[in-house]
Amino acid sequence: GGAAKEAFSGRTMFIFAAIGSAVGLGNIWRFPYVAFDNGGGAFIIPYLVALLTAGIPLLMLDYAIGHRYRGSAPLSFRRLHPKLETIGWWQLMICVVIAIYYALIIGWAMQYTVFSFSKAWGSDPAAFFMNDYMKVSDQVTIGFDFIWPVFIATAIAWLVLLVVLMLGVQNGIGKLNVVLIPLLVVMFLIMVGMALTLPGAAAGLDALFTPSWSALGDSSVWVAAYGQIFFSLSVGFGIMVTYASYLKPRSDLSGSALVVGFANSSFEILAGIGVFAALGFMATASGTQVSEVATSGIGLAFIAFPAIISQAPFGTLIGVLFFGALAFAGFTSLISIVEVIVAGVRDKLGLSRPAAVSLVVLPLAVISLLFFPTTTGLNLLDVVDAFVNNFGIAAAALISVLLLTSGFTALPTLRDHINSVSSFKLGRTWMIMAGGVTPVILGYILIDQLTKTVAEGYNDMPQWFVNTFGWGMAVGIVVIAYLLSRLPWSRRTGDGFTS
Ligand code: PHE
Ligand code: NA
Repeated sequence: GGAAKEAFSGRTMFIFAAIGSAVGLGNIWRFPYVAFDNGGGAFIIPYLVALLTAGIPLLMLDYAIGHRYRGSAPLSFRRLHPKLETIGWWQLMICVVIAIYYALIIGWAMQYTVFSFSKAWGSDPAAFFMNDYMKVSDQVTIGFDFIWPVFIATAIAWLVLLVVLMLGVQNGIGKLNVVLIPLLVVMFLIMVGMALTLPGAAAGLDALFTPSWSALGDSSVWVAAYGQIFFSLSVGFGIMVTYASYLKPRSDLSGSALVVGFANSSFEILAGIGVFAALGFMATASGTQVSEVATSGIGLAFIAFPAIISQAPFGTLIGVLFFGALAFAGFTSLISIVEVIVAGVRDKLGLSRPAAVSLVVLPLAVISLLFFPTTTGLNLLDVVDAFVNNFGIAAAALISVLLLTSGFTALPTLRDHINSVSSFKLGRTWMIMAGGVTPVILGYILIDQLTKTVAEGYNDMPQWFVNTFGWGMAVGIVVIAYLLSRLPWSRRTGDGFTS
């Protein structure tokens, strides 16, 4: 028994929500550059192999756990085996860390949507972003020197999030995604169409798609492909477990995973086309090579794109579409991250949704607003993001998969569960992919990243800063996860498994 379980009204709602989580900043500002930098057109081969051998199998694994055990990440893992509860809290703590800085980026995107009208960045978007807008301190430290316009934009993101989560799984999360995802796709298609008509677009597409076949012999290209797929599908840190727990008992799980996996990749390739068409225009306009202007992340969105918007015909429209899409894509991902936390706290304490949402969102918003919209927030975001993405997610996914395969032999049970509800049946291949291929590759990626960061430090940042907010944070969330797993469950939830 337990607290009444919320649900999506149907599989379509779930698929929109799952696509909303997967399609995020990574599709728009990460994939295009990763593909360009790792073999161009030839990257499609390792990328598809990674999608089919690790991404989609892992997505199915997450869906199966949430759907069979019908709980938040901590509760589902506990029901799988009491010793696994800590894994659920670890995944939840990763979501806590991501949530507190993700809102800042959404705040920027909303503000730059407005700046697209006035071209507030003037003739030097880099100097504008660093000096005038974020007023980045030259000290790498923690301070509480607030940037008020950014503070307000970030606070608005938290406020909207609070309202949507209060409305619940169906009326809040489900309906928001059903509206925003089609809107996002339409806006992005128009933006890509406009970018393709810019002079120089073809040079950008050449730079992106010209295959460098020798890249296929380079192990770092394969690592990049698997890394992009793990990050992009949001697998292994509780999100897909949580959303799948809201699916009705008879729901096609493997079919849904195929739809979500291919939809996410289609959006990535579309973004690659749009971003490189725009970069081709920028290179042509300034008389340089595309490789000179190609970049990713904050530099692409908040420095290169403003320059493009200032010079392109109908630049304001391109800007509104681009930054609006960035804000929507980020927001639908943020919702999914925070819902992991809400669901976990709710299950553990046996709370109503409004109580759990208040208990989670208010403290998160306060921490987020204290640390990030400040003159020192940008460096903090840089370190925290790198450590969470490079180690946290991979380590949590690796250890979950290893435990599920070795000690707890959960894979046959989960496969049978998927097959009992799905049209696309899974056999031994799936178990080999999810339980064999995935951990080997995750392990390789993790060791590769760890040795590099230990040897070289991170980005020339002061060691105390990296130790505290990188390594310290990573160890801290594991300790907190363990302590949370020791706390008793509410009697209202019931932690046993009754199917
Ligand atoms: N998967 C998302 C992307 O590709 C990013 C994301 C990160 C989503 C964390 C949810 C949680 O951009
Ligand atoms: Na993605």
